Amino acid sequence: MSRLFRRKNIPSILAEGSETGEHSLQRNLSLRDLTSLGIAAIIGAGIFSTIGNASASGGPAVILLFAFIAVACSFSAMSYAEFASSIPISGSAYTYAYASFGELIAWIIGWALIVEYAIGNIVVAISWSDYFTGLMDGMGWHIPEYFTMDYFSAKSGYLEVEMALASAPEKTKELWDYFTNAHITAKHTAWVNAPEFFGLKVICDLPALAIVFAITALIYRGVHETKTVGNYFVGLKLIVIILVIIVGAFYINPAHWSPFAPNGLSGVLKGVASVFFAYIGFDALATTAEECKNPKRDLPKAMIASLIICTVLYILIALTLTGLVNYKELGVGDPLAHAFSLIHVDWMSGLVAVSAVIAMASVLLVFQNGQPRIWMSMSRDGLLPKRFSNIHPKFKSPSFSTLVTGAMVAIPALFMNLQEVTDLSSIGTLFAFVLVNAGVIQMETHRNENHVGFRVPYYDGRLFIPLLCLISLFVFIVFDTSDVFVHLNKRENWPTAIFWVMFITLSGLSYKYRYSIIPVLGMVSNFYLMTQLNFTNWAAFIIWLLIGLIVYFLYGYHHSKLNRSA
Ligand code: ALA
Repeated sequence: MSRLFRRKNIPSILAEGSETGEHSLQRNLSLRDLTSLGIAAIIGAGIFSTIGNASASGGPAVILLFAFIAVACSFSAMSYAEFASSIPISGSAYTYAYASFGELIAWIIGWALIVEYAIGNIVVAISWSDYFTGLMDGMGWHIPEYFTMDYFSAKSGYLEVEMALASAPEKTKELWDYFTNAHITAKHTAWVNAPEFFGLKVICDLPALAIVFAITALIYRGVHETKTVGNYFVGLKLIVIILVIIVGAFYINPAHWSPFAPNGLSGVLKGVASVFFAYIGFDALATTAEECKNPKRDLPKAMIASLIICTVLYILIALTLTGLVNYKELGVGDPLAHAFSLIHVDWMSGLVAVSAVIAMASVLLVFQNGQPRIWMSMSRDGLLPKRFSNIHPKFKSPSFSTLVTGAMVAIPALFMNLQEVTDLSSIGTLFAFVLVNAGVIQMETHRNENHVGFRVPYYDGRLFIPLLCLISLFVFIVFDTSDVFVHLNKRENWPTAIFWVMFITLSGLSYKYRYSIIPVLGMVSNFYLMTQLNFTNWAAFIIWLLIGLIVYFLYGYHHSKLNRSA
């Protein structure tokens, strides 16, 4: 049993890093470069695409969600920064968990990170395809609808249109115009025109497949997101986003901001996965720790600075979008371009589409590079077969891992639905964030005066955390309309119930062991966000984790280097 929780100590991780050449990288990233890399990884499909669905359900009040999630992310950013500066090895949260909780939890977190990186990239690929298709259309090259989306989106769009038309035949023209604006007629057309193969309609997202192939080929040949390329892309993204805000300001109709929260709090909270997805990426900075000039000082600053910059921009973009058109029109895959085309500012629509296609390709590059790095670390520890850390003799890239990542992203991108993958990617990342915060609490107990690197500021949570828990519980019980504690037989209520058990337990432990406030708040806020994702996501994620455990017990447990030396 204790073998499962054997920990690697930090000096041995650092020593292995030097043996495997991890430390041979040049330390040339400054605070500015790091902040810019952070923005490069953060700004992508979230703000160009998934913000659409969040605004369509929450209305203008979605800006409050952007603010809340930014705060939750900033707690995690500090925890990541602490680990990244004391264990500057690629492998990110997986390596940190190995040091703080031992092998089993490290494996679980590495497995969850696949959901963040690989599933996250499916989101980006699908969003890329939405913008690319729109752009091609604008240039007069029409890609048949049935090759630009997934089967289920086409089917649900078809049914939605048919049912609406059947229920109100006198409003056909009006309804058709509405569906056209909301891009739903494209789904209908895809379904109607799709070729059939053995009675099954052939509908898939070919541009999403193509971009993943192209990026995988680049990475296989050893192309990395270099400092220069990173800075270049960041410049482009920032210019476009600022332009959207400035040009948009001239076309805002404040009437669109009222009502502010048309679907209430529940409508706003429906956007959790989409908005959280927009913030993912600052954690990827942790993997650059060994290339920073001064990781201890610069990494925490860069993570927080990139988060602040993105938060301000995101809130302004959300205000602009919901001010340009009615929030109901925004439930599309390319909301920024779509909003400008609805108000007939076609040049902006085209400009946004071109930039989104370039910007999202850069996010794909960052994450598609990140996944093989994590697999390399896991393979070096013996938890995955050796081939996962094979380096291509000519291109010096982790060839096998890169190809597996490519296949894992490209094939589902053909068939999966944007919302499903966004939800799954967000729940996996939130789970990793909860564990990284927990890791900081755990490390606190092992820390000595000689601790090197950045430390999350310590504030004694002995009274604060239990008090916060009590007040929150009181507010929750007063306002909870679904009566979670009364209807525990409903499985939708389980995540919330588990959350309260965790919060109350953490309060007790904080009282007893004087836990540090910031990482506890990080755990609580990220776990709370997880409860806002529906039960199906939880079920899918838990199944994913169970598959991970089976793989671990069939392979990693027996091949782990630590266990062999035990
Ligand atoms: N935050 C990144 C994006 O929005 C993952 O694409």
